[in-house]
Parts: sequence; structure tokens; C-alpha cells
Amino acid sequence: MGKNFDVIVVGGGVIGSLIARRLGRAGRSVLLLESGAMGEQSSGAAAGMLGAQLEIHEPGPLYRLGVESRSRFKQLSEALLDETGVDIELVNNGILRVAATPEEERELKASMQWQLEAGQRCEWLDGAGVAQLEPCLAPHHGGVLLPDDGNVLAPRLAQAAALAASRVAVVRADEAVSSVVKEGSHVLVRTIRDTYGASVVVVAAGAWSDEVLGTRGLFHARPVKGQMFSLRPKPGVRLQRTVYRHGAVYLVPKRDGSVVVGATMEPEAGYHREVTVGALQKLSTALGEVAPGLADAHFERAWTGLRPMVGTGQPIVGPLPEEPHIILATGHLRNGVLLAPCTAEAVASYVDGGAPGKDWAAFLPPEGYGVAAGSAV
Ligand code: GLY
Repeated sequence: MGKNFDVIVVGGGVIGSLIARRLGRAGRSVLLLESGAMGEQSSGAAAGMLGAQLEIHEPGPLYRLGVESRSRFKQLSEALLDETGVDIELVNNGILRVAATPEEERELKASMQWQLEAGQRCEWLDGAGVAQLEPCLAPHHGGVLLPDDGNVLAPRLAQAAALAASRVAVVRADEAVSSVVKEGSHVLVRTIRDTYGASVVVVAAGAWSDEVLGTRGLFHARPVKGQMFSLRPKPGVRLQRTVYRHGAVYLVPKRDGSVVVGATMEPEAGYHREVTVGALQKLSTALGEVAPGLADAHFERAWTGLRPMVGTGQPIVGPLPEEPHIILATGHLRNGVLLAPCTAEAVASYVDGGAPGKDWAAFLPPEGYGVAAGSAV
């Protein structure tokens, strides 16, 4: 047998890296395995929105966890800067969700009501208020400002998280897992290079999560492709904060003045990461409608990411019901960056044999997420 660890984490995205960092800092011996380059799948491709109030559309456990995870970014960004020298470029000046029709206005006002009841801040702006806040936008019916949402530079977060993990864990990139096999009280993880043993294996491999366990199709883990591009406004034009129009487009300004324009939701695209002309056309049209002041910005580059979706689209975090030595941390879909800090904490609790706060109970792998009969584990 090869080397032994307390925990093996599979998946070198933001979530896997923060889990490895968290466990390593707590004194566990940890191996982090990534099949390709660290952070180069959905983490590095993300627009980086911290949209707890934007992206989660109803009160409940996911909303509370999103808000809690968002609140951890200030401390996380400072800690990562300290540990790695990498600045994740946290911006917390809010997200503006605009209404282009009276119906959208009604929907936004209804969403404000429950968000206020849930104790979160949000503020209605009429059309003039929207124009004053972001002059490069088209005239709108109004919008809701979510002042506590924000964004980070996701590729930097992925880089910082991987580096921070490497300070306290063994990190192996370009080392795909070929099987996960239970042997006595240990789990053996075979890779293309070696065999490792651990008491616990954490699977944070996004859309590849059930493939790692040899249970392809059992969790129905699958990618939802997102295409996006970045632009650079002409001199004198600046978008200050993230702007979002539901079902159409979001514009995420970064500290260097560039703006990420995203993103498609393509559940049928499979694992292909090509940029398509049709997607760029659709996003550009929506950009022109929402922010005509950015129409003559310079195009910088376009890319895609594969968001991990499992089951009906909720995260799945926790031990498998009949295989407690396997812990899943996947299926975060549109909210992987946002939920990464809280997910790392939750996984650490499960590794310690405990249970995180009660909100996580809603995201435990359900019965039937055990390992398929005859499979490797
Ligand atoms: N969180 C934004 C997206 O997934 O497109």
C-alpha cells in the first residue's frame, strides 16, 4: 500500500482546496487530489458573485447558509492574503437587481419583503435612482439594491485556496483517481500514479463526483455549462457594482475595471467547454438592452465553466448514508464560490464525527445515495 493519510480530498476546486486547508490547519494529515490543474474547472471559470440574496430565491436553510458563508469572506480574504500573498479581490459594494418590466418590478418587491423579514438589508430604487447609481444602464422601472452581496475574483480565489491548502496538506494535481475501494477500516484510493489509504475520503469533484466513486449516474451528477466573456469599458465609463437582470444577464465589475458578462445555463451541453457564437450573441444582446453605456467596450476574452448539478440542483454535503467514510461536498451549482467557506466548515464537522448546524441537515446525501451494488467502494 502507498501512503496513508487521515483524509483524502478529491477535487482541487475552491471547495476541495478550502476543505483540505481547513482539515490540514486542524492538524489532520490530508492528501488533496486533482485530475487536472488546480482550480481550472468551474471554480476558475466562475464570475465570483457572492450573491446570497441574489441567487437564493426563498427563505430557508440554503438562504441562511448563503448569508452565513458570505459573511465569512472578509476574514477568509485576509487569511488567504496572509497565508499565500494572493489577494482574492473581495468587493462588497452590493448587487443591483434591475426590473425591466412592471412584472419584474412586482417580483422584486415581493422578494424584498421576505428578505427584510429574514433580517437582510435591501433597498428599492426607482428608475431615477437606478440611473443615478449606474449611469451606463438603460432606463429601468427600478431595481433592488442588495448592499451586502458582492464578488471576488474567482480564479484568484481558486489559486489562493490551492496554495493555502498546499501549506498544510499534500497536493497532487494532474493525478486522476481511478478507483476508491474499501479495505477493512481504510479506504484505498488508486490514482493513475499511486495508491493511498485514508480513514475518510471527501469527494468534492463537482460534475465528476460520482464518476470518482465509480457510481456514474447514481447521484446523477452532471454539468450545467455556463458561457461568459469579459469586456473593458472605454475610458471614463465605469460600472461600480454587479448588475443582474433575471433570466437575461449579469455584469460583474472587477477591481481592475473589467466587467464579466454572464452567463448561459446549458444543462444539455454535457462536458464540452467550447465557446459558441450563439451564446456570445445572446449575452451581447442582453448586455446591450441592460447597459447600452457598455456597448462600445472592448471585448477581452470568452470562456466557459461546468457548474456541478446533482439531483434537483441543491448542494449535497455529508456522509453517504451507508458509507460514512465517504463524504460528499458537491452539487453547489450556481453557488459554489459563495458556499465554499461554510461547506469547508461543515465537512470538517462531519470528518470529526459531529454534525454542523441544523441547516446542513437539509443537504445530507439522501437514502439511495449509497454506493451502487457491485461498484468499487
Ligand atoms: N453564480 C452565477 C452563475 O453560476 O452563473
